[in-house]
Amino acid sequence: MTTIDASLASTRPARRTDWLGGAATFCYLTIAAGQLLFTAFILAFYYPATLGGDFAAWNAKPLIKGFVAGDTAGNLFFAVHVLMAAVISFGGLVQLVPAIRGRWPKLHRWNGRVYMLSALALATGGLWMTWGRGTWLNLVGGIGITLDALLILAFAVLAWRAARDHRLAEHRRWAIRLFAVASAVWFMRVGYMAWGIATGGAGIGKAMDGPFDIFLAFANSLLPLAIAELYLRVGARGTPLARKGVALLLTLGGLIILVGSAGAWMMMWSPYI
Ligand code: HEM
Repeated sequence: MTTIDASLASTRPARRTDWLGGAATFCYLTIAAGQLLFTAFILAFYYPATLGGDFAAWNAKPLIKGFVAGDTAGNLFFAVHVLMAAVISFGGLVQLVPAIRGRWPKLHRWNGRVYMLSALALATGGLWMTWGRGTWLNLVGGIGITLDALLILAFAVLAWRAARDHRLAEHRRWAIRLFAVASAVWFMRVGYMAWGIATGGAGIGKAMDGPFDIFLAFANSLLPLAIAELYLRVGARGTPLARKGVALLLTLGGLIILVGSAGAWMMMWSPYI
């Protein structure tokens, strides 16, 4: 059994590695590569400026509303948000590695608490920045990210409650769902890049209000969630054909993630560090 398959399947009886296990491992590794690049960008671009108190330096990168002179609360919310962004991006990857959970269960529990707290902070802080500070380009985008925040909050509570009550199979399912929706803002960036590379930017509007923007505003959380759900269902009781189908989907998803992550690194992140 491969490492990630063991992680994702540890609460059901062991079964022979098959296409589904291999594809899940591949997909996880592509997600890990892309999220490590995102983390590296946040650490290199936002951390020095934020921890050094040079908030104005955020605006070297195009943002809707980054540093605003005189807006102390808004700037502080933004500061906490970008600091927590690296914590959640790295912490989520660590949570899914079975060797870590098996060998250091205490680390898994503590990292899990930190992960859930950062999920709550990012979702509630993000909601305030969107609607309280007014950081949105168009209403559909604002509604899409709001849906994501609500899913994060709901799944974090459900994953935490299941862990507290030692309902481990349920905990695993809610934790995977939480990981899918908590990764949505990263999926959005990677999705834009993969789509841009494949189509030259078809359907992307000037104010991010084209058909593709509207699709991605919701797909950034709902698509990974649907794929995670398929994986969970088929992994538990799928026919061999269904397992092969989902394996194919995960492989395709992984390849798209690789292209999108490479594009995001080259065009969105590395130019600013
Ligand atoms: C949970 C995972 C999240 C991560 C890792 C994350 C990460 C980030 C990062 C890195 C930025 C800085 C902008 C950039 O350089 O790209 C940012 C900005 C922002 N985020 Fe999040 N975020 C998350 C969740 C959310 C949620 C759920 C919301 C809304 C409900 C939200 C709302 C915002 C807003 C409004 C900004 C300012 C955007 C701008 O001014 O251009 N974030 N986020």
